[in-house]
Amino acid sequence: MIDLVPIGEVDDAAIERLLDDAFDSERHGRTAYLLRAGTASIPTFSFAAIEDGALVGSIQCWPIWFVPDRSDMRAVPMILVGPVAVTPSRQQDGIGRRLMGAALDAAQNDAAMMLIGDPEYYGRFFNFSAEHTALWRLPGPVERRRLLARGATVPTGAGEVGARCTVA
Ligand SMILES: CC(C)(COP(=O)(O)OP(=O)(O)OC[C@H]1O[C@@H](n2cnc3c(N)ncnc32)[C@H](O)[C@@H]1OP(=O)(O)O)[C@@H](O)C(=O)NCCC(=O)NCCS
Repeated sequence: MIDLVPIGEVDDAAIERLLDDAFDSERHGRTAYLLRAGTASIPTFSFAAIEDGALVGSIQCWPIWFVPDRSDMRAVPMILVGPVAVTPSRQQDGIGRRLMGAALDAAQNDAAMMLIGDPEYYGRFFNFSAEHTALWRLPGPVERRRLLARGATVPTGAGEVGARCTVA
């Protein structure tokens, strides 16, 4: 049986080992890491999946802003989702979907959320799309088709996405 617990209940080093197993060693240089630099993950949106006492998955969410170029628009608080990681031996068994479901539930399904990931997964199961993100600028390179968002307040148009230090 798999239990989802707040990520704060799990040792940071164990989470790092899981992420090392699930991703390549270049992960720290990825744009998503640059985007959230200087912020702390949001405890109520971040979870660990535990099976028989072992860590098998995690999801972390981070506070970010979209700051529009247009001066007549206000900055929009958003939630950066990810990394989402499932230990390789337990992938393809619904754990990723449960972790994402928990984060979406915590956000009450209507917050503006974004992630960098495969649309074939995040679009298919969770309704993320690149529809609004074409003109967003990030602090590093991104494959446009993988820059995804969802939620009623997701901004459209040109602007800068960056770290937010407090949760609005
Ligand atoms: C991507 C990941 C989080 C998915 O979690 P998971 O528990 O393995 O997958 P789930 O059981 O929730 O979903 C399985 C389904 O999604 C599909 N799927 C899984 N990853 C996919 C991907 N990257 N692209 C497209 N489809 C994908 C599977 O084919 C399967 O489809 P099916 O039900 O039709 O057979 C997990 O595989 C993982 O940690 N991968 C390595 C790290 C990573 O890429 N993280 C995401 C970027 S933040």
